[in-house]
This record gives sequence, structure tokens and C-alpha cells, in this order.
Amino acid sequence: MAETFTGTAPGRVNLIGEHTDYNGGMVLPAALSIGLEVTLAPRTDSAVAVTSNGYDAPAIRELSDDAVGEWSDPCVGAIREANALDLLSGGATLDLHSTIPEGSGLSSSAALIVAILKAAREAAGGGPDDVELAIAARRVENYYMGVPCGIMDQMAVALATPGTAMALDTKALSYDLVALPAGFEMAVVHSGLTRKLTDGRYAARKVECDAAKRHFGTEDLCLLDEATVEAVDLDDIPKRRTMHCLTEHARVKYALAAMQACDMDSFGALMNESHASMRDLFEMSLPEIDALVESATEFGALGARLTGGGFGGCIVACLKSGQREAWLAKLLERHPDARFIDAVSAD
Ligand code: GLA
Repeated sequence: MAETFTGTAPGRVNLIGEHTDYNGGMVLPAALSIGLEVTLAPRTDSAVAVTSNGYDAPAIRELSDDAVGEWSDPCVGAIREANALDLLSGGATLDLHSTIPEGSGLSSSAALIVAILKAAREAAGGGPDDVELAIAARRVENYYMGVPCGIMDQMAVALATPGTAMALDTKALSYDLVALPAGFEMAVVHSGLTRKLTDGRYAARKVECDAAKRHFGTEDLCLLDEATVEAVDLDDIPKRRTMHCLTEHARVKYALAAMQACDMDSFGALMNESHASMRDLFEMSLPEIDALVESATEFGALGARLTGGGFGGCIVACLKSGQREAWLAKLLERHPDARFIDAVSAD
């Protein structure tokens, strides 16, 4: 039996800061307790053979394969990248064990790619640091998978630690790990609607932001000021997308300050404002998710919002510790398709 190497990565929930990570802004994700483990055995041929607890049949692919919309695509892309980084020279046999539901906005794909690259780095006995690995994982998404995502998910799953939020400046790629305040938790609830970043709606938002970037002559929509954008003669859609980006970036900064001051009432209010902006300005929510978010606050959350790329997936709600059971019972009774996924807290 060939020598095997292991790589792990958690899922992530983004607490606030959506679609800011490819517009020069800040994000505030946190590592979940659900995650993914990969066992990797290097091969001398060019096959990528994958078994997974999520799929009955193994996938047998070739390093030269293009992405074809199969679950094993990220594995092929990651092994190709590991070859480009000189971590491997050939294919690999992979065994995956994941507890991150796919299509939930919890970074199952980033976790898979990062975990494979970490296992490949083990196999090579060293290599790029975690930030460079996150950048490499994004390349796999952007250029192999064809998903024009930002850097948040890869950075979060490569570097975030339990019990902290990662205050990440996606332009400078600098970050702080900030302790979550004691006495509160962030609960993640799946709406029951799954989504795929490859389904085109994420890419459509990226295209709209690109049009706004051309208009303003900057890559950093998040850093524009509100008055300038309000005053400008620009179509309604790129204008609203830009307004979301710059106000969302400002909300991340306020939310970070609120978290550091243990002022979770303000943090919750910013989550609610973020959801309204995603719903009205960025138009990335769905009526069922709006209803779930409304119920979440009606039943006592300090704030709640859609999390991740949008158009389905999960919400995140800020709760006082000890509140979850009663809150969840009411929420799931009203929204029978929803289900509890995980919660992050200081303890
Ligand atoms: C997805 C992408 C991220 C980010 C979020 C939205 O998770 O992978 O890069 O853009 O959507 O905030």
C-alpha cells in the first residue's frame, strides 16, 4: 500500500461581508466544526481516483481532464495545481470524508481543494505557506472550475481557527483572528434550497460589478464613497450593486468594532442591514430565505442574514447562549424545509 498523507479543512460561515471579496473589501468569516478530511496517496501514473463518503461510486479521472460538472472536478483541479506547484508529479488516489453539505454556501468546494493541497504539501515534505495555498486554491476555482469567486472561502478554510472570526482585508490579504464574544453564538440554519456557484447567477453578479468597475475606473468598488456613487449618472443595476459593496464593506468594519466591544446588539443590527442590502441592492436572496431571516429575528435572534454566495443555502443568526433550543423549535416549526447545521461560539 502506497504511503498516504492527510489534509483537513473546516467549512466556514461568513458572519458579514458578502460579495465584497472581489471588490476590494473586507469579510468576516468563521470556521465551522463541520469539515472535511482527505487522505492522499501519490501515484506514478496520471489518474485521479477518488472515493467519497458522499458518493456511492468512485470517480476515476485523468489529470488532463477538463472540468465537466462532476463532483470530482475540484479533485482533478487541485491535483493539477499540486503538480504545477511541484508538490506532486503525477496523479493521486484520494479518499474524502466530508460533513459539509454541498450547495449550502459553507465552502465545501474550497475546503476540498485546500485539504487536497495541504495533503499534497505533506507528501512533498513542505511547500507554500497557507496564504499561498489559499491563493492556489482560488486559482483552481477561477481557472479550472470556471467559478469567478473571490479569496474569502479559501483564506477562511486554510487559516481560520475555531472560536474566532477572521477579519480579512481581501485587498491586502492581511487578517486578524478575533475572538468571538463569550455568551453568544452564531447559528447556521440551512434554508432547504441548494445552490451552485456554477449555476451562473454568481457569475452574473460578477459581470455586473465588472461593468461598474469599468465605469468608476477602479477594481475596488468597496472603497468608493456613497455620495460619489449616488451623484453619478449610471444605470440602476450597476449602481445598486456598487452601493451594496461599499455599504457592506463599511458594515464589516462596524461589525468588527462591535464584536471587539462585545456589543452584539449592534452586531445583530448590522447583520439585519446586511440582509436588507443583499435582498434589495445586490438581489442575491430568495423569498423563502427572506422569510426565514425574518422569523429568525422575530423569534429572538439579535440579527440574522443570508450567508455565502446567495440564491439559496444557509442563514446565520446571532443568538444569546442557551437560547438556541427554543428558538430553533419555533423556527423549524414554521419553516419545515429548514434544518440546523452548526453553531460557532467562543466555547
Ligand atoms: C462565495 C465565493 C466567495 C464570496 C462569497 C460571497 O462563497 O466563493 O468568494 O464572493 O460567495 O460573499
